[in-house]
Amino acid sequence: MEIHVGCGSGVETATKLELREMGIDAPCINGRFIFEGGGDEIVKCNLLLRTADRVQVRLAKFPASTFDELFEGVKEVNWADIIPRDAAIIVNAKSVKSKLTAVSSIQSVSKKAIVESLKKKYATLPETGAAVRIEINLFQDEVSVLLDTSGDGLHKRGYRDLVWQAPIRETLAAAIIKLSVWAPDRALIDAFCGSGTIPIEAAMSALNIPAGYFRKFAFEDLSLVERGLLEKRRREAEEKIERDKKLRVSGFDINPKAIKLAMHHAKNIGLEKYIHFETKDMRGISSRYKYGVIISNPPYGERLMEERELRELYKDFGKLYRSMDGWSLYTITAYPDFERCFGKKADGNRKMYNAGIECRLYRYLGPKPKAASDCDSERL
Ligand SMILES: C[S@@+](CC[C@H](N)C(=O)[O-])C[C@H]1O[C@@H](n2cnc3c(N)ncnc32)[C@H](O)[C@@H]1O
Repeated sequence: MEIHVGCGSGVETATKLELREMGIDAPCINGRFIFEGGGDEIVKCNLLLRTADRVQVRLAKFPASTFDELFEGVKEVNWADIIPRDAAIIVNAKSVKSKLTAVSSIQSVSKKAIVESLKKKYATLPETGAAVRIEINLFQDEVSVLLDTSGDGLHKRGYRDLVWQAPIRETLAAAIIKLSVWAPDRALIDAFCGSGTIPIEAAMSALNIPAGYFRKFAFEDLSLVERGLLEKRRREAEEKIERDKKLRVSGFDINPKAIKLAMHHAKNIGLEKYIHFETKDMRGISSRYKYGVIISNPPYGERLMEERELRELYKDFGKLYRSMDGWSLYTITAYPDFERCFGKKADGNRKMYNAGIECRLYRYLGPKPKAASDCDSERL
């Protein structure tokens, strides 16, 4: 099968690293990693990738510049072998540089073709079962028929059931952690933790808890993956979970409601004893550890506060960083004048999107601990 792993813009390097760790070396084309694989790759990518959005399988590829060609091509797929009789079929379409441009017509023609193909086997199609999402992707008059194997986007881990203002996507938080110099033996602080996403993602990865351990996937209702394979891979992953590890992961927020939510989310997946959450203004944070990493998603202003207040907050964030010599800092913000307010030019930055807003991830690097044991050093 041709497998497509999609990820957010700016996250590609992190997803590439994760795929490599799974033994998959694949090119990234327009935010998708494309490679050949079987049921095992579908299971592993869904269960283990922390930074990917979705995993799809390409069922067919054919040229089409008329609706008749589109209909015939989609109908050719052996749908009855793949999706159940009661599937609630959802068809989405995209068209770039192609003669067929009307997305809603592409969707309805394709759906008709799928229904007609299924009716060769089934007399009725109740559509009362689990959703099956199909993407019809037209590029330069070539159609790709993609079947979704994930279901809910992979950012839905299953722990964040309550809503906080401007939360960061779990997959983006995981990518920032992956791209940072943080390692599980180092201290990590999120100075603006909100509902706890960054500390929770860090703890999950440090303890080796699979990203998809607590959720369901669409492929469980399809016949693409051998029965029992998900359970087998889940058990194997479970054996690698390191619940005995001692972590130094903390999350602070000025708002006690945020901290209550963060604690609730950590508890949802049994992480409450691994993360220290505390209501605190960022300005009062300190750490006894000499080396560590601050990873934060502070307010951007647009939604959460006035510009004057925001500039003041970033200035004080800079002061906090300068008081933590030995530490590195990563922060994502959409505010263009961040570095000036922070009072220091970043060692590097990377464009990323959070909730569709163009942001920058700024990187400030502190000294590297010489040995792993240095991570235990306390400041004088
Ligand atoms: C963009 S949100 C963080 C969202 C978080 N990453 C999540 O996934 O839920 C920014 C957070 O900064 C907090 N905040 C604002 N001013 C603060 C301050 N002076 N000290 C600490 N936290 C502050 C807000 O209460 C809010 O929860």
